[in-house]
Amino acid sequence: VSDMLVDSFGRMHTYLRISLTERCNLRCQYCMPADGVELTPNPQILSADEIIRLANLFVSSGVNKIRLTGGEPTIRKDIEEICLQLSNLEGLKTLTMTTNGITLARKLSKLKECGLNSVNISLDTLVRAKFEFMTRRKGHERVMESINTAIDLGCNPVKVNCVVIRGFNDDEICNFVELTREKPINVRFIEFMPFDGNVWNVKKLVPYSEMVDRVAQQFKGIQRLQDHPTDTAKNFRLDGHQGTVSFITSMTENFCAGCNRLRLLADGNFKVCLFGPSEVSLRDPLRNGINDEGLKEIIGAAVKRKKAAHAGMFDIAKTANRPMIHIGG
Ligand code: GTP
Ligand code: 5AD
Ligand code: SF4
Repeated sequence: VSDMLVDSFGRMHTYLRISLTERCNLRCQYCMPADGVELTPNPQILSADEIIRLANLFVSSGVNKIRLTGGEPTIRKDIEEICLQLSNLEGLKTLTMTTNGITLARKLSKLKECGLNSVNISLDTLVRAKFEFMTRRKGHERVMESINTAIDLGCNPVKVNCVVIRGFNDDEICNFVELTREKPINVRFIEFMPFDGNVWNVKKLVPYSEMVDRVAQQFKGIQRLQDHPTDTAKNFRLDGHQGTVSFITSMTENFCAGCNRLRLLADGNFKVCLFGPSEVSLRDPLRNGINDEGLKEIIGAAVKRKKAAHAGMFDIAKTANRPMIHIGG
């Protein structure tokens, strides 16, 4: 383990998010701009071998958790092979994935055999018509089925990510909490964040304080759990519930001080913070035959440029970034 992954504020980065594809089988309004996105041509997307080479470098430098994202990671044809190879990296403790759950019910069992430990499944509404409006596609039942499959296959924990948008699904917060009474899942309410093309505005943001008040009014015995310092979520339990609820408060109470996350995008760009345009290509030097020492220098220099925190709620809305579908969250 080197100091390549320690930034100038002393934060050690042990969690790498790898976006496997920019493509998706849904068209969520808050993620993909209405007029579509430009897709990086396939030859410029990292191959499985390139992903493994880079992941190996990160893991040997101290990364112990990898999350696969997209677009939608399960639509990548070599997803099983990628999971198998990543899970065999010496030093990796957790291989996980954030998915929309559309095809997961039929793929999960095989993915688990290939070393995937757990899944976070995105679901923003319990109402089919609203799902079809937000995602511009069908498939609500399939996502619900995937959540049940993940529970049945013993994924622990099964996290359900719900991006809360005022006027769209903020009336469903308590219905989502209700799901945790019988299901051993962790429902996570996420403050809506601005990305290029997603027409964010502050009126659509439901602040953490308001969400937690609503839950506390409706349910008995809400109790804050101790979080890990690197956690993106503030976690709570409720009397008599098998599952838990959490809030991801990127906008009103950022958790940048404990950040341990780095991102490798599908096109091979390396991104040290979710927000801001600063990216450096690892693909290009890789394809020009650079050795591991050279790659480590590029990665280390980028990590050292990481800022203490993102610019704040109003400034990130004005700063250039990519659409979310290219970043993977
Ligand atoms: P766990 O590893 O299970 O804690 O999941 P995670 O929260 O790290 O990842 P997930 O893909 O489930 O993302 C949930 C939400 O957290 C999404 O809205 C992400 O965009 C957001 N998120 C993830 N990492 C970061 C981060 O480093 N900074 C900020 N501001 N938000 C993040
Ligand atoms: N704000 C907050 N969360 C978002 N996600 C996608 N777009 C946004 C946004 N604008 C979530 C997805 C997925 C995770 C990777 O990020 O729902 O669960
Ligand atoms: Fe880390 Fe940037 Fe997210 Fe803050 S906004 S937690 S620094 S990735």
